[in-house]
Amino acid sequence: MKIETDVLDVIRAARCDGSALFLSGQLTDHLYQRVNLALSAVGGKWDRWKRAHVFPASAADAVAGLLAEGEVATDAERGYFPTPPALVDEILDLADLSVGHEVLEPSAGTGAIAERVADRGGVVDCVELDPRRAQSIRDKGYAREVITADFLTLPVSAHYDRVVMNPPFARQLDIQHVQRALRWLRPGGRLVSVMFGSLTFRTNAQALDFRSRVREARGTITPLPDRWFRGISTVVTVIPVRQLPELVGRRTVQVQASGQKAAQGGLF
Ligand SMILES: C[S@@+](CC[C@H](N)C(=O)[O-])C[C@H]1O[C@@H](n2cnc3c(N)ncnc32)[C@H](O)[C@@H]1O
Repeated sequence: MKIETDVLDVIRAARCDGSALFLSGQLTDHLYQRVNLALSAVGGKWDRWKRAHVFPASAADAVAGLLAEGEVATDAERGYFPTPPALVDEILDLADLSVGHEVLEPSAGTGAIAERVADRGGVVDCVELDPRRAQSIRDKGYAREVITADFLTLPVSAHYDRVVMNPPFARQLDIQHVQRALRWLRPGGRLVSVMFGSLTFRTNAQALDFRSRVREARGTITPLPDRWFRGISTVVTVIPVRQLPELVGRRTVQVQASGQKAAQGGLF
């Protein structure tokens, strides 16, 4: 979303003090509403007692990007589509989650999946690009760790039993997110992700490579009903990571492969 010059001028003239931003001067209603919209897009909330917009961390840092670029990403532009609770339960069933499993949610939004992981006894770590959404997860206290970062550039720092995710879909970002997330799994782990429905029929190199990788791993890609995301076509992808042969016998590997039957009905 582009920010108009008059809105930028007001924000530039504001005074920042820690997490608070104080607007100066008298604004017309119309101008105030547009300023308020821009500030809320970067995490600011009007606090009528402080008579300031208050941010989760430094107000100056929060508005620096907006002032430098003259635009902010809205929720829709960032691909924010929270997973509905009933679908979260299906995803966690496919993940074969057990109590005590260490679980990564690498594009956690406001925690629709992560909170349910914790409810079911998983130990969940979250990554989320949007500072407000990351803070809302921290505030609820069910996650072991919440990192505000771009998952696509975050170095691998731990390995997990499960990755459960519903990443952004635009420009095949979902494929990039899932490929990257696979590096965070330990042997014997499993990834379950909601992905864009076009994955099943696209014929560009990225989609072809990805589908063959899922097939090689004996994973599944299963179309979901359109109702989950207001008519947007989606699939759920399950990818198991093999146990290391030197650590376990062939039998475990076979059991794991047949465990995929839970996701039958998929394309392969
Ligand atoms: C489709 S929403 C799903 C949110 C959550 N996983 C859920 O299921 O409700 C995708 C989320 O990914 C976040 N996101 C987008 N790009 C990201 C990135 N590079 N690193 C981490 N999070 C990202 C967005 O801010 C958004 O909250």
